[in-house]
Amino acid sequence: MLIHSASQLLTLHGGPQHGKKLGELGIIPNGALLFNGGKIRAIGSTHELMAAFPDEERLDAGNCVVMPGFVDPHTHLVWAGDRSAEFEMRQEGKSYLDIMAAGGGILSTVRATRAAEITELKAQTRLRAWEIFQHGTTTVEAKSGYGLELSTELRQLEVLVQLDAEMPLQIVPSFLGAHTIPEEFTDNPQAYTDLICEQMLPAVKDWCQSHTSHLTLPFVDVFCEQGAFDLAQSRQILEAAKELGFPLKIHADEFKNLGGANLAAELGAVSADHLVKTSDDDILALAESGTVAVSLPCTPFGLGEKDYTASKKILDANGLMALGSDLNPGTAWCGNMQFVIALACRAMGLTPAQAIASATINAAAAINLQDQIGSFEKGKQADLLILKVDDYRHLGYRFGINLVRAVIKKGTLFNLGEETQPC
Ligand code: NIG
Ligand code: FE
Repeated sequence: MLIHSASQLLTLHGGPQHGKKLGELGIIPNGALLFNGGKIRAIGSTHELMAAFPDEERLDAGNCVVMPGFVDPHTHLVWAGDRSAEFEMRQEGKSYLDIMAAGGGILSTVRATRAAEITELKAQTRLRAWEIFQHGTTTVEAKSGYGLELSTELRQLEVLVQLDAEMPLQIVPSFLGAHTIPEEFTDNPQAYTDLICEQMLPAVKDWCQSHTSHLTLPFVDVFCEQGAFDLAQSRQILEAAKELGFPLKIHADEFKNLGGANLAAELGAVSADHLVKTSDDDILALAESGTVAVSLPCTPFGLGEKDYTASKKILDANGLMALGSDLNPGTAWCGNMQFVIALACRAMGLTPAQAIASATINAAAAINLQDQIGSFEKGKQADLLILKVDDYRHLGYRFGINLVRAVIKKGTLFNLGEETQPC
């Protein structure tokens, strides 16, 4: 299929964008793109591609921006239950960490997730997966972490593997058995840390290797935070995971700086995420290491907090910054990357172009998929959005509505309803 006459075709070509280079959209006015077999075959002006490929099926994208699908590199997509009561408690003055210490928070979702059969867990997750796909996310990272015991953690991973196979949304799993200390280990957090290292990680690896679809290893992530895993425990888990060949991620500096970002840099983690309380030295360490700095502005927004990731410092240090949603039932039930972009512009001072690059090619780098997705380049996956607007700056400028008219995933077109036929 040849998509043509796009008012702006955003190619984002040239690889992940470090520091001051962030925001190079590679705009082709009156642009066109040819794909077949799920892959991008040619990119150029409408004039050039129409002449070169006169016989291809055509789709007119006049007055529309055409851009790569959003990549969301950090979500907790799979859970059961909800925590609306906690939102009310927070509005009444309790803090997230207080609620967590009192046995609510993550542990309340753990109780609901452990109790849910796989069909129920999958049904709840599928609804959210469709919702984010319709808002333009074509690839999403999704974590376990609401089981905190092997069987439920594997059930979460199984849901993700099944939905990835059944839906157009591409789902990249992470094992977050180290999300918090489960109730049965409250008195002995170190014993749970040892259990993760000695039993859960090897079992997850075995499960991947013996799974019918021969899975590649997921990321291993740790919530390095007061009330969850301290720095020494985070190091123990990540080093054990690295030894087993897992790629690494970390939740660092969401509420307190325990040194998690520095640890990520030292261990060569693919990304360090949240980074709200990160020190200047840790920002430099991340930038030098090549670990992607993933900012999740929906989290402070969702918690009504003032502080956000120091994006300017990351860019001044020539760091590689990405944006994600952190979609989860506790701090940020929002997987809409258009809202993430609008928020990052206002709360972190990004331009629309910087936020778009952070949510596409740089987000792809945060899940090690920069060679397959996140930009328009020959041979990459045909993951595209057709927006209802003719200028990319409407992303960021506008918020609270869906600007996506159609989503194309691996070359298959999904129109978003009667009112939103492709241009
Ligand atoms: O990224 N920080 C840890 N995990 C989530 C919150 C999960 C929850 O509250 O259920 C986060 O904010
Ligand atoms: Fe998270």
